[in-house]
Amino acid sequence: MNVVTTDAALRSEVAQYRANGQRIALVPTMGNLHAGHLSLVEIARRHADIVIATIFVNPMQFAAHEDLDQYPRTLEADLGKLQQAETSLAFTPSTEQIYPDGVTAHTQVAVPGLTDCLCGASRPGHFDGVTTIVCKLFNLVQPEVAVFGKKDLQQLLIIQKMAVDLAMNIKIIGAPIVRADDGLALSSRNQYLTPEERRIAPQLHTLMKAAGAAIGEGEQAGKVLASTQEALCSLGFDVDYLELRSAESLRLADESDTHLALFVAARLGTTRLIDNLVIER
Ligand code: PAJ
Repeated sequence: MNVVTTDAALRSEVAQYRANGQRIALVPTMGNLHAGHLSLVEIARRHADIVIATIFVNPMQFAAHEDLDQYPRTLEADLGKLQQAETSLAFTPSTEQIYPDGVTAHTQVAVPGLTDCLCGASRPGHFDGVTTIVCKLFNLVQPEVAVFGKKDLQQLLIIQKMAVDLAMNIKIIGAPIVRADDGLALSSRNQYLTPEERRIAPQLHTLMKAAGAAIGEGEQAGKVLASTQEALCSLGFDVDYLELRSAESLRLADESDTHLALFVAARLGTTRLIDNLVIER
């Protein structure tokens, strides 16, 4: 596996793949790779000849009070995992490479509508940072395919809209959520949890599944959400949002919607966990 850190080196590798007529799939990450990330590489390999993974902890998507400095950086181990997963090329740029004039001076790409709710409401500006870096990576690589996890379903929908709206000729593929055996969705932030919090954390998925089953069977969603929220609070979760929305438009669900998603963000101690569950009604 080749590793490049500059735009010029990346473009030169990409030009060679193109000259060989090879199809390229892109997997953007912020590193600290786990089985969830590696599942994206695996899916990418099925769709292309070449898989390019990127590792960049993107300062533009972190607010000043968030965990940018604390975010786990494990580059050497990550490169080993990517190599093992048969990634062709890793792009690991510095912040200066991506934002030569600084983050605030950089052009931004913003997707309206889908970014107003859920994590967009609780983390203002977060998704502008995401779409800006993803757009830049798309422009550098111009892949045929890019793979993103459904763990971050709102992010996936926003990137799909950006690709359509800006006429990017890139197929955006959503990958299933990879979970630990006890149901907790894998996340780089799980390692912030204390052992006691880690023991409680899977309840998030357990309670979501129970809520999803009840709503799927026709129980009144408002009541189900209220009792789920109460159960989460009594376990020590500080719920940021627990909402039932259209799994496509992210509009708050009404009785006529059939393709739904239950979205949750909750803090356990200092760790913010997010998860979601798609429900067909
Ligand atoms: P990061 O949190 O590192 O995640 C990179 C990709 O891995 C995202 O597409 C995310 O949805 C996916 N992923 C993470 N955990 C997963 C799990 N348990 N199962 C399946 N997929 C999972 O998301 C970002 O980075 C950034 O916002 C990024 C898109 C790289 C832009 O900076």
